Amino acid sequence: MARLVLASLAAAFLRCCLGDTVEADCKDGERPGLSFIQAKALARDSPNAKKVDYLWSSGRGNFPNYGVSPASAPFDLAHKKVWNWSHPLGRFATLTYGTAIDHQRNIYLSGADGVRKFDHKGKMLWEYDSLPAEMMDAPSLHDGKLYGSDTQGNVVALDMDSGEVVWRTKVAKEIGQDNGFTMAKDGVVLAATDFRLPSPLPTAAANHKVQALNASNGSPMWSFEPDTPVWNFLPLFVDEGDFVFQDMTGKAYRVDLHTGSLIWKNGGLDDTWTDGSAAVGNGMVFTVHNNKKEPLTQLMGQYEPGTLSAYNLSNGELVWKLVTPRPPNNAPAVGKVKGLDGVSVVMPLCQQIIPGSFCDVHVYDADTGDLQWVFHGPQQTTLMQAGDLEGISARTLRGIRSTCLPNGWSAPSIDAHGTVFVGNEQGNLFALRDMDGDGTIYGDDEISSYDTQAAFSGSSSPAIAPGLLAVASCDSLFVFKD
Ligand SMILES: *[C@@H]1O[C@H](CO)[C@@H](O)[C@H](O)[C@H]1NC(C)=O
Ligand SMILES: *[C@@H]1O[C@H](CO)[C@@H](O)[C@H](O)[C@H]1NC(C)=O
Ligand SMILES: *[C@@H]1O[C@H](CO)[C@@H](O)[C@H](O)[C@H]1NC(C)=O
Repeated sequence: MARLVLASLAAAFLRCCLGDTVEADCKDGERPGLSFIQAKALARDSPNAKKVDYLWSSGRGNFPNYGVSPASAPFDLAHKKVWNWSHPLGRFATLTYGTAIDHQRNIYLSGADGVRKFDHKGKMLWEYDSLPAEMMDAPSLHDGKLYGSDTQGNVVALDMDSGEVVWRTKVAKEIGQDNGFTMAKDGVVLAATDFRLPSPLPTAAANHKVQALNASNGSPMWSFEPDTPVWNFLPLFVDEGDFVFQDMTGKAYRVDLHTGSLIWKNGGLDDTWTDGSAAVGNGMVFTVHNNKKEPLTQLMGQYEPGTLSAYNLSNGELVWKLVTPRPPNNAPAVGKVKGLDGVSVVMPLCQQIIPGSFCDVHVYDADTGDLQWVFHGPQQTTLMQAGDLEGISARTLRGIRSTCLPNGWSAPSIDAHGTVFVGNEQGNLFALRDMDGDGTIYGDDEISSYDTQAAFSGSSSPAIAPGLLAVASCDSLFVFKD
């Protein structure tokens, strides 16, 4: 545990300067006897797929509009919370991360000790105990199964009805504890694996590989090694059977889902680290990186600039980039934001775990990068993030990771009204909208919040279904309903 805490603290505060890592684009790439073109055709046909549309099928929602729901969620969070779940042994007996919602509004929750399924009224339907392995990533739903990964290097498929293990495949000695995402589409599951040194994080290991597995039987298909390890790995599926993601330096990659072949890669800043992940929308891939190198000697400050970049999805060319006034330590959401024309990029900005510092949310025009509105978020008033210090002894006794140490914000989600939902490290879940179009989010009509008393990990993005919002803080699940 101590090693983990140190590593995580290091992750929060320190980055170091390393030389270029291994130059290897693709490993175990082609399946024998199956051409590139055939694989693409297979991806599109997928004849045995049960066509059930889940309402929020992964930690980032649904293909192709990740982070965005066609349903509306309650704005008035203070009065719309209907239930919350904490571990029966106490709030700090687990750490909770990702949520997903199926076609019947059942909610799936990952946590350090496994996965749980609840109906929309809060009744627990099953639980899957993963200990001593911890399930630190947001799981996803695909064709009747839930896919997740654990810290002992397993990728796991559970039957969504029963919670029973359909398959469990060990793909590496370890998988990182960084709160990434396990994603599935077209019969393929993607997870980050091979957690080890070195990485741009001086004392922290990181996931070096992206692993694809056959979703029906768990057999490994291919693995891909990016130029620098990934952190908070978030693969997003795009058209033509491909997916995109970024590494921890903000470099964007587009890869063929069925073969693991690289289609293009671009950008990033070597020897940097971000807690952020990529987003897609409007024909572009958005990635984030911090601008500071060699931060071993100088800790990151709250005003340390970072970069948000937009790349052309089809060829990887840079369309625009802008400098953010605080670290872009999270995945943006790309969609229609209330009162704004066109498509916007909602970017949470925060250097976490700095007592006295502030966090903001910026909204940019997706086509141009022009700033559209700003929300000045709360100040960190405590030594650690909400709920973290208080939970250390209880978590240590339970034998799980002792702290959450998450991003300053959860990932943001946007509902059908264009309201932005995002959780802050001081414990408040916010609903934000610019009613008067003045470019500033201010006042009761524009801000609503609920104090969950704990921070939110980056893989916890508010999950939205019609009239329902489910979000995991670092220790509990909260459900809001209209
Ligand atoms: C998964 O394995 C099954 C059984 O071998 C095979 O029929 C199917 O095509 C595989 N799926 C993918 C996506 O390769
Ligand atoms: C991406 O590039 C293609 C091909 O050059 C071009 O047709 C398209 O307009 C570009 N898209 C964006 C968003 O820049
Ligand atoms: C969770 O629910 C319980 C029981 O209703 C309540 O006492 C507690 O205050 C809730 N926790 C939060 C953080 O709202």
